Order: sequence, then C-alpha cells, then structure tokens
Amino acid sequence: MIRKGIILAGGMGTRMSPLTKAVNKQLLPIYDKPLIFYPLSILMLAGIRDILVIVNKGQLSQFKKILSDGSRFGVRIKYKEQMSPRGLPDAFILGESFIGKDNVSLILGDNFFYAQSLTAKLKESVKLNSGCKVFLHPVKKPELYGVATIKNKKITQLVEKPKKTKSNLAVTGLYFFDNKVIEYSKSLKPSKRNELEIIEVLKRYLRKNKLKAEYLGRGGAWLDTGSINDFYDTSAFVSAIETRQGLKIACLEEIAFNNEWINKKQVLEAIKFYGNNIYSKYLKDLL
Ligand code: G1P
Repeated sequence: MIRKGIILAGGMGTRMSPLTKAVNKQLLPIYDKPLIFYPLSILMLAGIRDILVIVNKGQLSQFKKILSDGSRFGVRIKYKEQMSPRGLPDAFILGESFIGKDNVSLILGDNFFYAQSLTAKLKESVKLNSGCKVFLHPVKKPELYGVATIKNKKITQLVEKPKKTKSNLAVTGLYFFDNKVIEYSKSLKPSKRNELEIIEVLKRYLRKNKLKAEYLGRGGAWLDTGSINDFYDTSAFVSAIETRQGLKIACLEEIAFNNEWINKKQVLEAIKFYGNNIYSKYLKDLL
C-alpha cells in the first residue's frame, strides 16, 4: 500500500512577529536551511514520495520558490491552501482527495527530529497497514503538549495540554495513520480553543486498541520551533552537529541521492539552482 505524507505548514507564527510578517515561519532558517527542510527530510527518510504541503492562504508562491514540485529531490509535492488554522485534523479534511484510499503520515512543519536509528524506526512505521502510530518523547513541560500515559510501553491515556500530569511523555508532531483518519477527522467538533484536536483522533484509535507508540529514546532530540528562542536553540544544535561531523542534517538532495531517487546529473542541476554557497559545496563533495 502507498503511504502519502502531509506537512502542515500553516499558522500565522504570531509569536515570532515581526519575523513572520512577510515570510512564513517554516521558511525561516534553522542554521543553514529553511525550517521546512527538516520535517520534509523525515518523510523522505521514511521513504514517502507523495507529499502534500498545506500552507496559509496567499503564501503558496513563497513555498513553491524553494520546494517547487519536489522533483529536484525526487519527490512529488502538491500544495493546498488553508484559509485559517483549524487544528491538525483539518489536514486530513483538506487532504482528502490527495490521500484517496491510501494511508497517510502527518508531520508538523515546525517539528525537528534527530535520533539514532530514526530512519529504521520510520521505515518500520510506514509499513503499518491499519491503525495509528505516534512517536513519544520525554519533555520537561508536558503541559504544553498532548501527553500520553503508558503502562508496559502501551498507551493507556491521552490528554491535550494537561494542567497536571504524572507523565512526561509528549506526543510529538509526527503521526502515521490508516485511511480511517479522514472519517474520524470529519466527525470531530471544535474544542474549547476552537480547533479540531488531533488528540481526539488518537483517542478513537486508542479505544479500538489500534494505537501504537514508538519512542525516540533519550539520546534523541525532538524540538518544536514555536518561538524565537526555539529557533536559536535548534540552530545551535544543528550547527554543533554539522560542524563537528561534516555531515548535514536534512540535506534533501543527499537523502534523495542515497535513496537513488535522483542521479548525479540532477544533483548538478540542484547545485546550479542553489548557486555558489556551502550547501552547494556539500553537494559537490557528495559526488
Ligand atoms: C499540537 C497537538 C499536540 C502535540 C503538538 C506537537 O499542539 O495538539 O497534541 O503534542 O502539536 O508539537 P499545538 O501546536 O496545537 O499546541
């Protein structure tokens, strides 16, 4: 079965104004690349090649300038405009015809993942035929996220932004669903914050015993880049690793080349597209 991917890259980025007045948050830099490269790289590492990018109304051309139809890095990108942010499950309502009868993964445009053996875990997750899988990670402030309580590694309870909780396991912004997610999303009612809540969708799967948990592990990093400080911290993290290793995180053309989705000639075309800079130099060294 094909698995499609959706990146939810809407949102007004109000917390980061004035940076986000003219440019969408997901196009701002995390060290040496636009933020959206990172979640996109996660879908690509999972082996997903059919991708829908959901953007704010009026911001389509910004995204197309850098991602275009995805062919530069061996994937097929389609776009959909969102009139106003209505919550995560809106992605499956807006994406209904794109998803068709297939399974689908959702990643939030501002989520950053980095972990040992992550690619293997992603490849395993895309195989999931029915049900849902979420990635959990410990956080110091669980009250900011959807939180899972677990027993024997299985999820027993889910709460969105609990005021008090004994669990420190956040549900991260990467989800693997079967096709039922469309039907479940359509039946939701807006919550108190006037949004469709992904946690309510997950609870449906939990009640049917169809919700699986995967763990990033304490050696991994999950960062969501909601504020200017988060941007700064995540940039510092990427810079430290890239400078030390000489390997780039989320170099889309490198992932595509290693997956044999693009050939040398296409890497050379990408170099031409980017012009003379360290990203292109990295691609040259790759060849
Ligand atoms: C959303 C989800 C929450 C999840 C988080 C991950 O929160 O509602 O369950 O843990 O994304 O980033 P929001 O960004 O809407 O506050």
